[in-house]
Amino acid sequence: MKNKAKNPKVILVGSGPGDAELITVKGLNAIKSADVILYDALVNKELLKNAKKSTECIYVGKRFNQHKYPQEVINQMLVDNAFKYGTVVRLKGGDPFVFGRGSEEIEYVENQGVEVEFIPGISSALAVPSSQGIPLTKRGLNESFWVITGTRSDGQISKDIINGAQSSATLVILMGLRNFSIIMSEVIKYRHKYTPFAIIQNGTLPDEKITIETLSNYKNVIDTIDYSSPGIIIIGDVVGEHPSFLEEEIQRVLEVII
Ligand SMILES: C[S@@+](CC[C@H](N)C(=O)[O-])C[C@H]1O[C@@H](n2cnc3c(N)ncnc32)[C@H](O)[C@@H]1O
Repeated sequence: MKNKAKNPKVILVGSGPGDAELITVKGLNAIKSADVILYDALVNKELLKNAKKSTECIYVGKRFNQHKYPQEVINQMLVDNAFKYGTVVRLKGGDPFVFGRGSEEIEYVENQGVEVEFIPGISSALAVPSSQGIPLTKRGLNESFWVITGTRSDGQISKDIINGAQSSATLVILMGLRNFSIIMSEVIKYRHKYTPFAIIQNGTLPDEKITIETLSNYKNVIDTIDYSSPGIIIIGDVVGEHPSFLEEEIQRVLEVII
């Protein structure tokens, strides 16, 4: 099979956070040029319509630890398809290097002598809050934001959540919904109980859902979480910039005054 294609190449492409228009021009051009596309679960399938008719699009995603293919098989599929057909696009949700295992795949591909190109994507960590009008930083409110995983492979929550909670940083937690209660019960130990937080599910997509509350009320939202949809948790005063939070604040103040 090896050496059949003249220019075996793998292009690692970030597809953006969900909305098909939030891919880069360069990423879209890569899809158009691909001979084979291997794509993940959170990639918007609309994007695949831009591929040539002859392009084979292979789903290799995983959701809730259900893998269509083990990682080693995906690595080998990238190499085999590049040698057989030429340009393989490896299409991943958001940015491939943000909790995307992009580097593991690319390391394997490069070790097999296949050329690699990188095309970044807009990570959900940035795009999902931003598309809702929640700034990750605001002068006077915070000086940094931390993007943290809410799920470690050993089932424990990351120490970085506890470290981040002790700073003034906005916390952006990916893959955290299943550990929501544990995460919040830790964060509330270090942050003011009226600190706002948001849960945004299916961000940038038509069925997007946003819930905004304060840490003191985190238990009230547990039952509203849809564990089948991807979601991020944003914690910090910047969440108060969301219009619905301001409205609720005004209502609260009016109730006290009247
Ligand atoms: C395996 S990580 C991959 C992240 C991806 N590489 C990125 O940069 O966005 C998957 C997690 O990203 C978050 N996520 C991805 N797309 C999302 C979306 N449209 N809305 C909300 N969260 C999303 C969720 O926390 C989900 O569990």
